[in-house]
Amino acid sequence: MSKEVILTGIRSNDEPTLGNLLGAMTPLINMQKERAGEYQVNMFVPDLHSFTTPIDHGTLYQNTIRNLKYFVAAGLDINEPNTFIYRQSYIPAHAELTWILDCFTGFGEAARMVEFKDKSKQVGDDRVTVGLFNYPILMAADILLYGAKWVPVGDDQRQHLELTRDLAIRLNNRFGDLFVVPEPADKQLSFSERDNQVRIRSLRTPEKKMSKSVEDPAGTILLKDKPEEAAAKVMAATTDSVGVINFDWEKQPGVTNLLQILALTTRQPQDKVNSEWSGKSSYGELKAAVAAEVKSLLSDFQEKLTQVDKEALMRKLEADEDAMRKVAEDTLRKVQKAVGLRPS
Ligand code: TRP
Repeated sequence: MSKEVILTGIRSNDEPTLGNLLGAMTPLINMQKERAGEYQVNMFVPDLHSFTTPIDHGTLYQNTIRNLKYFVAAGLDINEPNTFIYRQSYIPAHAELTWILDCFTGFGEAARMVEFKDKSKQVGDDRVTVGLFNYPILMAADILLYGAKWVPVGDDQRQHLELTRDLAIRLNNRFGDLFVVPEPADKQLSFSERDNQVRIRSLRTPEKKMSKSVEDPAGTILLKDKPEEAAAKVMAATTDSVGVINFDWEKQPGVTNLLQILALTTRQPQDKVNSEWSGKSSYGELKAAVAAEVKSLLSDFQEKLTQVDKEALMRKLEADEDAMRKVAEDTLRKVQKAVGLRPS
């Protein structure tokens, strides 16, 4: 019996932040530690997805490799034999299956995707591309090529997962058993035990999530920031005038964000951190505690980054791309036969 497949995407382009590390990278790395072996874990870089909205193409290739190195520095084990790391664009079947799925997806069905509508608004009408529209179908191909049953995505990707399921079921009904249908979103949540509350906010505007530094340099800690500078950003974080520490995203998002960062950086349950700090009045002390943790976390991370063996990483990538290309091609071949492009 082959193992059930867990599949996740690793963003390729943006400069990773502390929010990415605590909210996305660390949970994935923990998932690898807990699940690989019993499951096959596919971690791939959706590099074809990375320019559905405009980017700087001059840095894309290097940024992809950099982000993979960051994962290794954060604890991803590249020697784990059941983990496969690969770049989407190195496996042509992704693009080929996307085309076939496109022709079974309703225009209206794709136009209902909330992420498409939101991102279209952000980039402005004249910059909305067909690629952005097609994004969820490519995502469906990413999942269906490998028979992935488990796709631990955040809330914002839930609708795309449902679309993937709809497409798999639609083609299975029409052509027989072509695809493994991924589990529904609710089951994915309980499977991944993913805490959707983990969303690190900006240190300056804690109503918003921590995002790219160009938009919010003082509110964003980058993993490449100097540890002392990161600590200074924490010390300058926006709080409130309540004067008492409480974990309350509505009324005290700044303080609550700090409590969350403290729990994650010290690897303690949120409740424990809250009971230690709730009711105290010194925001300065809380900031100092968080700043110290962030500083040591970054020093540690940056030290590990210098030790990442790039050659070993590239060998792993290429070997996994060869292995996964075969898996993807097998699925594509089945689909091509089913739709009449190849003799059955
Ligand atoms: N859309 C995902 C995100 O924004 C990335 C992604 C692309 C992905 N293809 C995927 C995630 C397939 C899971 C499975 O995070």
